[in-house]
Amino acid sequence: MSKHGSTPAAYDASSIATTETNSATASPPGRRGLLQGLGLAGAALSASLLPVGARAQDVTRTRKATGGDIAILRFVAYAELVESDLWQQYAELGGLGTGSPNPYQAALNNLDGDSGQYITSNTIDELSHAAFLNAYLASIGAEPVNLDKFRTLPSSQATGAQQNGRLTNLMQLSVDTSWYVRYRSTSSPDFGATYPQALPQLAAGQFTAIPRTDDDFGPTDHIQAIANTAAFHFGSIEQGGISLYGSMAQRASSSEVLEILLGIGGDEVAHFLEWVDFAGNGVQRPVAPLTDSTNGLHFPNFVATGGSLLQPNLIFPVPATFISANLPLCATVRPISTTAVDAVGVVNFLKSTGLFIGQSPDFFTFSMKLAEQADRARRR
Ligand SMILES: [Fe+2]
Ligand SMILES: [Fe+2]
Repeated sequence: MSKHGSTPAAYDASSIATTETNSATASPPGRRGLLQGLGLAGAALSASLLPVGARAQDVTRTRKATGGDIAILRFVAYAELVESDLWQQYAELGGLGTGSPNPYQAALNNLDGDSGQYITSNTIDELSHAAFLNAYLASIGAEPVNLDKFRTLPSSQATGAQQNGRLTNLMQLSVDTSWYVRYRSTSSPDFGATYPQALPQLAAGQFTAIPRTDDDFGPTDHIQAIANTAAFHFGSIEQGGISLYGSMAQRASSSEVLEILLGIGGDEVAHFLEWVDFAGNGVQRPVAPLTDSTNGLHFPNFVATGGSLLQPNLIFPVPATFISANLPLCATVRPISTTAVDAVGVVNFLKSTGLFIGQSPDFFTFSMKLAEQADRARRR
């Protein structure tokens, strides 16, 4: 949110391993530990909490995931592994680092001076989502999702990128930018509405969102355009996440699975809001207007262009049609209906953006199998 800053990190990529370990193994503090932690030892308070704790444990025992719920969890675990893979690539080149920023980090800092922390934090969150979901699946005797055999795509050759196989390709993206217009409109795709691209050129072509080699570090307009491409891709990925979780929640039967979907989905919302603001900084002064002198990719100044559908500081979802056209407009996530959002649609959407260019047919077969199983889930 801030445009200035770059204060030292509260936590950084080195804490990822710790986070994964904690989410997989840590057990919740007992009631005594909670009370001690709060400094509360009064008998009256303890007595008043006892029945509540007992009820909570009873509920936990009877609300475990089965059947369709497991298919839902396996698909969102898949989605989180995909998210983790792409965010790790962003974090290696654009996240928190030591020493002076590389030109990509500098360009991202032009969009927000805290970009490094935000990118690293988003990455840590995705890793925690994936690790938690797979650990939860294992804890209830279900099969976790493992995509390791599909980590075959090449890494960036730019300085800073680790050299290992990837699930996703960030170097030939056709970035969907219709979300930028959708969340500023008063209509909803849940009622059939469709939207133009905010940046038709970015959506129609194939552009890299990370420096592919050190040659991409310049000229200045080129690396800024790469950072701007990333900014719109951040928003595109996270808006997809919140619609997916919102839709899948409506298919879940177990209250514990619903809690998981709402909890993680809420964190995707937190990510999305930041990237809405971040992308908007790429289409206003002082960054825009901007033209990449190497390929002509253009980012207009949307403030000068005018119109509320492109207004950069309109960062919160504008009230729109929800549930019924006869009801008042309401500010919400959209799309969220099970008819407008499903897992197969999410895989097809990601594929259409070029994120999986280079992946094997086996990868798509595996992806579709998980998606179709999740889409068959119905609330019982
Ligand atoms: Fe996530
Ligand atoms: Fe996410």
